[in-house]
Amino acid sequence: MKDAIDKILLPEAEIRERVAELGADITAAYAGAEPPLFVCAVLKGSVVFFSDLVRCIELPLCFDFLSVSSYGDGAESSGQVRILKDIQCNIEGKHLLLIEDIVDTGITLNTVREMMLARRPASLKICALLDKPSRRQAAITADFIGFTIPDEFIVGYGLDYGEKYRNLKDICVLKKEVFGG
Ligand code: IMP
Ligand code: MG
Repeated sequence: MKDAIDKILLPEAEIRERVAELGADITAAYAGAEPPLFVCAVLKGSVVFFSDLVRCIELPLCFDFLSVSSYGDGAESSGQVRILKDIQCNIEGKHLLLIEDIVDTGITLNTVREMMLARRPASLKICALLDKPSRRQAAITADFIGFTIPDEFIVGYGLDYGEKYRNLKDICVLKKEVFGG
């Protein structure tokens, strides 16, 4: 697996430190409000970040999971978003926080946000570990952002290429010959 890696973009320790800061920011933002509902959006890429982040938050939160398809197995957004697994909670009147691994074109998250807003939550905020603003097509910005990164295809810490590399501890750039970029 290591042979496919060009370089480490964000090492494990740096991610851990930043996730703890995000947890503190989110804890402060919701202090005194009704406990928020944390939605891991979208499976599967966000699950590693989600599980680390929720343990850095000191609020009586509930969580749920959403799975949509957008990319298939490749690296380009199809522009089509389909719900594969919906959340189970009724979000009407609740504070909703969507937890995303990466906002790239923003098409996926923008569609998910509209789907969720139609269910009339009291508020909706977004936390994304990674932001690639140079590739944005939909007008969407996360309220909490871990790292702003350049336009490189990355894997690890939940992120995949062709369903592989999700279990890498660091966030890494793939070798061009693997990615075909
Ligand atoms: P968007 O709709 O283009 O914003 O894409 C969002 C989804 O594409 C993310 O939730 C990721 O699953 C995937 N994605 C975008 N960029 C990358 C990347 O660099 N590596 C791995 N997955 C990515
Ligand atoms: Mg994802």
